[in-house]
Amino acid sequence: MPRFYITTAIDYVNSRPHLGTAYEKIAADVIARYKRLAGFDTHFVMGNDEHSQNVFKKARENDEDPLAYCDRMAREFLDVWQRLDLSFDDFIRTTEPRHKAGVQELVRRMTAAGDIYEGHYEGWYCVSCEAFKQEKDLVDGLCPIHRTKPDWIREKNYFFRLSNYTQPLLEHFQAQPEFVVPDVRRNEILRLLEGGLDDISVSRAGQAWGIPMPEDPSSVIYVWVDALINYATAVGFGTDTLLFEQWWPADLHVIGKDITRFHCVIWPAMLMSAGLPVPRAVFGHGWVHFRGEKMSKSLGTAIEPLDAVQRFGPDPLRLYLVKEIAFGSDGDFTWERFEERYNVDLANNLGNLVSRVATMAEKYREGRLAPAGEPGRLAEIATSALAEYRQQMDRFALEGGAAAAFRIVDAANEYIASTEPWAIARDASRGAELSQVLFDVAEAVRIAAVMLLPMIPGSAREILRRVGDGTPPDRITLDGAVWRNAGERVLIKGAALWPRVETNQKLRSPSVKENVPTPPTAPWAPPVASPSTSEAVTPLSPPATTDNGAPPPAASPVDSRITIDDFMKVDLRVAKVLAAEKVPNSRKLVKLSIDVGTEQRTLVAGIAEAYEPEQLVGRTIVMVFNLKPAKLMGIESNGMVLAASPDGGKPTLVGFNADVPAGTRVR
Ligand code: MSP
Repeated sequence: MPRFYITTAIDYVNSRPHLGTAYEKIAADVIARYKRLAGFDTHFVMGNDEHSQNVFKKARENDEDPLAYCDRMAREFLDVWQRLDLSFDDFIRTTEPRHKAGVQELVRRMTAAGDIYEGHYEGWYCVSCEAFKQEKDLVDGLCPIHRTKPDWIREKNYFFRLSNYTQPLLEHFQAQPEFVVPDVRRNEILRLLEGGLDDISVSRAGQAWGIPMPEDPSSVIYVWVDALINYATAVGFGTDTLLFEQWWPADLHVIGKDITRFHCVIWPAMLMSAGLPVPRAVFGHGWVHFRGEKMSKSLGTAIEPLDAVQRFGPDPLRLYLVKEIAFGSDGDFTWERFEERYNVDLANNLGNLVSRVATMAEKYREGRLAPAGEPGRLAEIATSALAEYRQQMDRFALEGGAAAAFRIVDAANEYIASTEPWAIARDASRGAELSQVLFDVAEAVRIAAVMLLPMIPGSAREILRRVGDGTPPDRITLDGAVWRNAGERVLIKGAALWPRVETNQKLRSPSVKENVPTPPTAPWAPPVASPSTSEAVTPLSPPATTDNGAPPPAASPVDSRITIDDFMKVDLRVAKVLAAEKVPNSRKLVKLSIDVGTEQRTLVAGIAEAYEPEQLVGRTIVMVFNLKPAKLMGIESNGMVLAASPDGGKPTLVGFNADVPAGTRVR
């Protein structure tokens, strides 16, 4: 059986995972699940990077022992990853003994190769990147990623003769063109190599938090050198030779585009120096943006992935991130877009299809479907979509893989609309035709569900159960997804897989935190613990199909009204803008100082594209007064300004046509 060893970047634990870091793990999980489905013996490793200075600082701020802090954060990370249904086989932490032993062994080998020497470093260091920076790397004196001023440091360091590896790396890039994907990242690294490499520091002085240099315990190993080695120590380097031989070299490191230099230059050079094979490929994915900014805790633009999971289960979020963002490019997350895709892809297209075929199977064939002739045109469409899917997934075009599966879904929905099984059923002489049409639709759904197993594992398994595929989940293979015009299927009707959500554009806030929707959870799914949505939720939409599987009549009015008590929970107040200034490095955000009658507050609002700061000063606005504070671009915002954005365009502030004093309640 071919093997596939896949890893993700290991995360800093100075804050909880956010949607951006989760994106990487979900994408890697989709690849790992695809490889298993395609018959590879797959080993998928994730982990935590615990020796960073920020982690140490954070523990100290909390008055916690650093290791106890890391233990607590590891539990939080694992909880999030499990709720996202990530199928990792191992989770490595850099404070584990197995890791420390392997790191020291690798540095020993680099030393023995004559590649480590003692010297002094003087220059910039960005603690958030944990990276030594050159003047040319900075923008206006700031780290371009974290927008903070780096520290100027001068200390004794051990250096790695990276400069010796310029040529071997260039040769490696020639010999293995697939080493760095996508091409845009490969070209970036090639340009860097062509310019020649400088030696780099591999230790830090005067720090206790880290792994000691083997020959000089007064210095600790630079956190990036420590972290990169996790990919080898997780499969036994330095502790378990057999395991290491079984899995090394890694087939794929999945990492973000900000850390390709570490993975595509420093890491392979370290391995070459230690006499070890280099990984087969590194995939540098893009960033998930929120309102045009990289999603990041330190920039205050992070979204909590569990907000989506608590309300929808993990699968809609997984599908959105994989299907809507071309893997390798940057993409945006907004709740509006997420709700829209949920309704279109899941509620309308896939969910409706599953429900229609099961409903018709029950109504016309007592739930039992078997072929009664030759398959119709769906068989051809599904077969070509499956081939396309393999091609896309093999080159990690995950969005293309998802799109191929949805081509089958769309084709099956169209097939139902054009063949009109309910009309065939009225003609007793067309019984065989009806059996075949229904069987074809069920078979198309089965194939699409197998293809979607990597993206929406829980839901795809449920769909397979409903269309009568009794194969145990660990025995389902991609080879088994070929069209089978044989056998009997017993279909099962169930609750709506994805009840529609009502999207509410009216009160979208241009301010700090987006409104998080509260749609129904999938009733068939295991309940997800949710402190905020523990009460049972009634589906907001009418059923997607009628009793005989025909399209439903025009939707009846949906009752999503709230009581006066619900409304009164929102404390809306009049406020006056005292001062306004654009938030540096942001197109959309403006920082407001406002008078709310009883106090002055700071608030950040996303209205900079529509209003100049001068236009805002003295203006009367309406704000949500009792909103929990949130940080945006490092500024704490206390409240939310009300505005309307017609057709998603520029926002217009809510206002009055008479003077109303600051502090007046709006109701
Ligand atoms: N600890 C280092 C990685 C060491 S790997 C040997 C690190 N940690 S991190 O927590 O800052 O980031 C972890 C991963 O998440 C990185 O691959 C990073 O690129 C990715 N992302 C962080 N923010 C992201 C987005 N907004 N969008 C997509 N990926 C994001 O770097």
